[in-house]
Amino acid sequence: MVELTLPKNSQLRKGRKFPAPAGAKRTRTFKVYRYDPDRDENPRWDTFQVDLDACGPMVLDALIAIKAQSDSSLTFRRSCREGVCGSCAMNISGRNTLACTKGMADLPGGTITVSPLPHMPVLKDLVPDLSGFYAQYAAIEPWLHTDSPQPEKEWLQSPPERAKMDGLYECILCACCSTSCPSYWWNQERFLGPAVLLQAYRWISDSRDEATGDRLDQLEDPFRLYRCHTIMNCAQVCPKGLNPAKAIAEIKTALVERQI
Ligand code: SF4
Ligand code: SF4
Ligand code: FES
Repeated sequence: MVELTLPKNSQLRKGRKFPAPAGAKRTRTFKVYRYDPDRDENPRWDTFQVDLDACGPMVLDALIAIKAQSDSSLTFRRSCREGVCGSCAMNISGRNTLACTKGMADLPGGTITVSPLPHMPVLKDLVPDLSGFYAQYAAIEPWLHTDSPQPEKEWLQSPPERAKMDGLYECILCACCSTSCPSYWWNQERFLGPAVLLQAYRWISDSRDEATGDRLDQLEDPFRLYRCHTIMNCAQVCPKGLNPAKAIAEIKTALVERQI
């Protein structure tokens, strides 16, 4: 069961029920987490009947239909609608994933539960506050560091060197992995978490980058890196099929190898 970070001193309560639009023949029930910081009210679970014949097949399509037909105040992030921007990450029926690539038909029959990414403060409804996550990403300095003179055209990389970044560069920073990681839940002030560590390894493994030593120095810390206990939730939920736990293991190996 997903654990939400509730606003201080609040309790989740039953919410409003929205019937299916008139004339709907095929419907599905959605239970959606609602919280509005501007109203002095506890968060609640609202229930919506969605007309499946009037919307597309993905969970995001259903949320857009709810907003258009039942409650225009429902708040969620989305942009690309094709699994590229990472902004529609949320918890759907107990699992972190992207609403735009999760088909309703892939979820077991019955009610679909939708809540924000767990263990993060909630700004409104399905929108978590990711400012700490982004600050951690900025802290790894995710850009090319070089001391060598600038090449005339571009920094070259051989095909095998480029291949070392496969499984890393595809990360869309959706935060599904970090917010499913128990170590990140309990230590997110100090543990960088799987997404940011995977990104850190993306730069460590980039043959053009000349700051590998400094990058490893920054990670050699009992909390920033070593709070990963290989629980593997991160690899199980990544909607892009990436394996942050493997990247974390590679960083640990690099730290050991440079001692030898
Ligand atoms: S493998 Fe490490 S980073 Fe991934 S979920 Fe487990 S503890 Fe978190
Ligand atoms: S590793 Fe996967 S789950 Fe984690 S932020 Fe990147 S794309 Fe999202
Ligand atoms: S809307 Fe961009 S990943 Fe879902």
